[in-house]
Amino acid sequence: MGTNRGMPILPVSAYTSQEWFDREQERIFSRTWAFAGFAEDITEPGQYISVQAGLNNIFVVMGRDRRLRAFHNICRHRGTQLLRAVGQTQRAIVCPYHDWTYDLEGCLISVPAQEREFPELDLSKITLRRASTDLWRGMLWVHPDENAGSIMQWFGDVEPFLGPHKVEELVEYKEGRTEYDVRANWKIVVENYIDGYHLAHLHSGTLAMYDHSRIKAEFIGPHYAFWEPLSADYAENLEKNAPYPLVIPTEQAGAWVPMLFPGIGLGESESSWSLFHVTPLAPDLTRVVIRTRVADVSSWEFTRQSFRSFGFWSKRIGGKYEGDGDDPMASGDFTKEDIYACEQQQRSLKSPYFVHGPSSVEGEAGVRGHQELVRDWVGDG
Ligand code: FES
Ligand SMILES: [Fe+2]
Repeated sequence: MGTNRGMPILPVSAYTSQEWFDREQERIFSRTWAFAGFAEDITEPGQYISVQAGLNNIFVVMGRDRRLRAFHNICRHRGTQLLRAVGQTQRAIVCPYHDWTYDLEGCLISVPAQEREFPELDLSKITLRRASTDLWRGMLWVHPDENAGSIMQWFGDVEPFLGPHKVEELVEYKEGRTEYDVRANWKIVVENYIDGYHLAHLHSGTLAMYDHSRIKAEFIGPHYAFWEPLSADYAENLEKNAPYPLVIPTEQAGAWVPMLFPGIGLGESESSWSLFHVTPLAPDLTRVVIRTRVADVSSWEFTRQSFRSFGFWSKRIGGKYEGDGDDPMASGDFTKEDIYACEQQQRSLKSPYFVHGPSSVEGEAGVRGHQELVRDWVGDG
């Protein structure tokens, strides 16, 4: 990564124009592995999840042989989308338009009025277009290209820089799932995630349990590895301070907060594991879905009130949080603080007076690196 700290790496239009958005959809999000769900989201034959991967809608379904397969969600007749969101088909996938029917392995098995309407059609020659799917660290991924290869080619190098968490052994806290539509470009959201400079400032009241002066961060290929230790005070009484059962050994406590390209953040702490899934919806609109996993311990309880969005961390400050109210900066929730900052930043991009200012040496190195990455993937025209 270069060290250009003076000149803006991406133009303002990269954050505001439909043209940039379209190129990113085509050149980044259509050519990378996309998060589809957790392994336990599909456990029975016929269960499926559909997910948008850039320009492609792809579904993963479990076949009668219990194998997972991914297909482009496109009927081979006139292209109608076959399946919506999440669900369970019985033994076949039926197109809603003219009832062409495929089995769970993607083969066309029946066409209404075939003898009269399609006398020449050889059903055995028609299958759904295959995509790729793979499991990694308890997560289910899809890639639009059926020859995408192993997911370890994509994530293998960054894996040693992630937390020691056994993700598969943790259980999802379903009520804690949160979803935000952030009125900002997806890159603003990602840049904020990997910005080490803001942590001690925007989050002075919410993330003080970490020692931001000892961050370790670097790009491993396109992925940004990011770790910071607990503050000495907090670590000293870890078992007492941590509001939830520990999920990793005490001596390894700290936070791994990597951003996997493009737009999949992990928040791996000593008592929880969260996924921060960024999906661009429009040049100035981004969906963030947060899903959290915790220890599989039935003997402890936590209340809805004590569960504060991303990774439970916000509650730890104690005292400050007094309910959501209207002011994100008084919410005691660092995710809301981040969203507020992202949306305010996006608003300024429309002003003719806006120009990028200087970028900090260490804290914002990741931001510059991400901008270079996007520039390299999207290209010039
Ligand atoms: S478009 Fe699917 S059956 Fe016609
Ligand atoms: Fe933040």
